[in-house]
Amino acid sequence: KSILLINGPNLNLLGAREPSIYGSTTLPDVIHAATQQCASKSIAFSHIQSNHEGVLIDRIHEARGDVDCIIINPGAFTHTSVAIRDAIVGVDIPFVEVHISNVHKREAFRHHSYLSDKAEAVVCGLGVFGYEAAIEWASRNVKPKEK
Ligand code: DQA
Repeated sequence: KSILLINGPNLNLLGAREPSIYGSTTLPDVIHAATQQCASKSIAFSHIQSNHEGVLIDRIHEARGDVDCIIINPGAFTHTSVAIRDAIVGVDIPFVEVHISNVHKREAFRHHSYLSDKAEAVVCGLGVFGYEAAIEWASRNVKPKEK
């Protein structure tokens, strides 16, 4: 089984950025925990963070045929990007959408997601535990693709 974790724009600032909303855990902390969690379940794990929409789209394309589940926090692209939606739907890989904050408790422009209606699951408001929860869900529910 293999999981790709994708973090979009500004998530490189996790820990420093608006800590009252996003907490004090850093992205390297999240990656470290996810790496260990996957290793303990013998799941192959890869990850990318980028502030660039096209880089994220290219990585999604590369995952085709190679990754069984994508866990994605698209950051602000959640609310803007038809292109990321098309990419992730286009490669036909099941995905879980993760938001650290409860986007529904925040500004109205964060209430709509271009991804949620295509996601297997959406996690929001659990803080960085959302990543752990999503990986746990994937480890239990995602079937490795026949190749
Ligand atoms: C976020 C919520 C988005 O609205 C925001 O633009 C982010 C982070 C979250 O994890 O809560 O960058 O996806």
